[in-house]
Amino acid sequence: MQAEVKDLLVSGQELTDAALERLLPPATQVPVSIHKAMRHSTFAGGKRLRPVLAMEAARMIHGNGGLPEGVEELGAAIEMLHTYSLIHDDLPALDNDDLRRGKPTCHVVFGEAIAILAGDALQTTAYEVLSKLRCPAPATVEIVRSIAQATGTVEGMIGGQVLDLEGEGTKPTAESVDAIHRAKTGALIRVSVVSGGIYAGATPEDVQRLTEFGRKAGLAFQIVDDVLDVTQDSAQLGKTAGKDLASDKATWPAVFGIEASRQHAEKLIKEAFAELAPYGTAAEGLKSVAQYLVERTH
Ligand code: IPE
Ligand code: IPE
Ligand code: MG
Ligand code: MG
Ligand code: MG
Repeated sequence: MQAEVKDLLVSGQELTDAALERLLPPATQVPVSIHKAMRHSTFAGGKRLRPVLAMEAARMIHGNGGLPEGVEELGAAIEMLHTYSLIHDDLPALDNDDLRRGKPTCHVVFGEAIAILAGDALQTTAYEVLSKLRCPAPATVEIVRSIAQATGTVEGMIGGQVLDLEGEGTKPTAESVDAIHRAKTGALIRVSVVSGGIYAGATPEDVQRLTEFGRKAGLAFQIVDDVLDVTQDSAQLGKTAGKDLASDKATWPAVFGIEASRQHAEKLIKEAFAELAPYGTAAEGLKSVAQYLVERTH
């Protein structure tokens, strides 16, 4: 990993973690069990890629090299939504996983009922945080709307999870796996980039460019997630490796093979970069994080 992207990731993770620490109810808050469960999964060691993408998009649009004040709260809200999706993804009724971010999953530690509620609670807390964002009110409304859509049922995260579950045991096609990946994971990555831009005052043309960039980067991200599932071990991933094959999931490598999947992810990132050409050197941070999405090993 290049030194500059490492610095961006580390500083973005630190900013996000400090905001999450501030914004989530303390573990001592009654009812204690759910606040412990929310914090267990949130602070288990995620890469914080969506907040970092939001912050780097905001930095690019902001234009003076710095971050707009308070953007880490947007990142924290997105990370709450992502963590909620992971808690629910790991439940016995969905992927039935017992390892996540190198720790036992939420339902393993706290039981299924509290894990379901912890996911729900991370979602409601995220919207409470979004409602208080420190950007102009019309931008806040646009951010809330876009994030609700991207995590919803129509070409959003929940819809994608439904397609993913219903695709188990069926023969995946290029079309089906494309639809699953764009929705279950791509949409939240796309909206991370777009909402970071809106927070910083993006024009409609900026939003269009960030949307195209985020679409491509989001699909590339999930293709790499599928590749890593077959090429890495559980210790490296911090989650159970080989799970997709065992569950007969519709994955990119199942349709195209590992090498072609890797190449396609690389190609998508190069195409995504082209969208950012008008921003010149201001886009460097965002581009380096996007490059990391496909070069990562966990
Ligand atoms: C994993 O996402 C789940 C998917 C959406 C494929 P990440 O790889 O970003 O997981 P964390 O947040 O670092 O744990
Ligand atoms: C998860 O996809 C997508 C969401 C959580 C919305 P996966 O099922 O591939 O994620 P991992 O591999 O368990 O992290
Ligand atoms: Mg899943
Ligand atoms: Mg899973
Ligand atoms: Mg996966």
